[in-house]
Amino acid sequence: MSKEDLLLPAEIRDGLRTTVFGRERIDYFPIIDSTNVHARAIADGGAPQGTLVVAEAQLRGKGRMGRSWHSPAGEGIYVSVILRPRVLPSEAPQLVLMTAVAAAETLLANAALPFTIKWPNDILVGGKKIAGILTEMSLDRDRIDYVVIGLGLNVNTRAESMPPEIAGIATSLCAVTGRMFSRAELLRTFLEKLESYYGLFQERHFEPIRERWLDLARIIGKHVKIAGVGHTYEGEVVDIDRDGFLILKSLDGTVERILAGDVSLIENLPHSPGSDGSGKFFLT
Ligand code: BTN
Repeated sequence: MSKEDLLLPAEIRDGLRTTVFGRERIDYFPIIDSTNVHARAIADGGAPQGTLVVAEAQLRGKGRMGRSWHSPAGEGIYVSVILRPRVLPSEAPQLVLMTAVAAAETLLANAALPFTIKWPNDILVGGKKIAGILTEMSLDRDRIDYVVIGLGLNVNTRAESMPPEIAGIATSLCAVTGRMFSRAELLRTFLEKLESYYGLFQERHFEPIRERWLDLARIIGKHVKIAGVGHTYEGEVVDIDRDGFLILKSLDGTVERILAGDVSLIENLPHSPGSDGSGKFFLT
């Protein structure tokens, strides 16, 4: 780790093994409102695929479902990556799962932690969130103009410095392991993983990514509650389908296909129709 672990473009590029991501343009800010907001503005203005927006701190870091992302200076990674994928808008949820895989593998490569992925793309350690991903898309008629992938990773925040209002739900690499990490190194790993999975996605589509996501998330057969927009679902996870939707067998036996929501795991599985007793459900 360098003496001052800043995320300056030169630091990020030092040893970065990507060909596109972070190569042509990195917009760096000591402080910004939100890297995603800036990334959207420059993507609207034509910034190329692989452009990064990086900040040491965010004043109004955005989370999913209208929430905010705590972004203290120098303690985490707050980055947005601009993609210009040549896929249909309906395939965008697949990019969300792809990013979760890249983020999870970043943790695997840098710290052997017992993490879980909460569908679609939260990374948790010990039940607390360590990384979050906010993906925003802009359409030009019926095609994708760009997708902004925003990653927030809590790195060097000490357990005792977590604000009390999030201490029960958030953690950081330092809080979990007791040591400090190089943010530049973690960011390089993330960019390399993301670029490599993005290449795989363009070449072989979603299937290999779906399989890796399922391996990492181990969610099939789990009993969950999902708070969606205006509706809460409860049941057992049957699959992640080929579009990236979560397939849930509800307690009344109906099968739901869910695009977005907040998942909580429920430990005790009540009896539910259609189960073969082994934690797996049949769709037919
Ligand atoms: C979530 O878990 O709700 C998503 C959090 C995403 C936070 C990141 S930090 C970098 C990027 N810029 C933002 O304003 N949000 C994302």
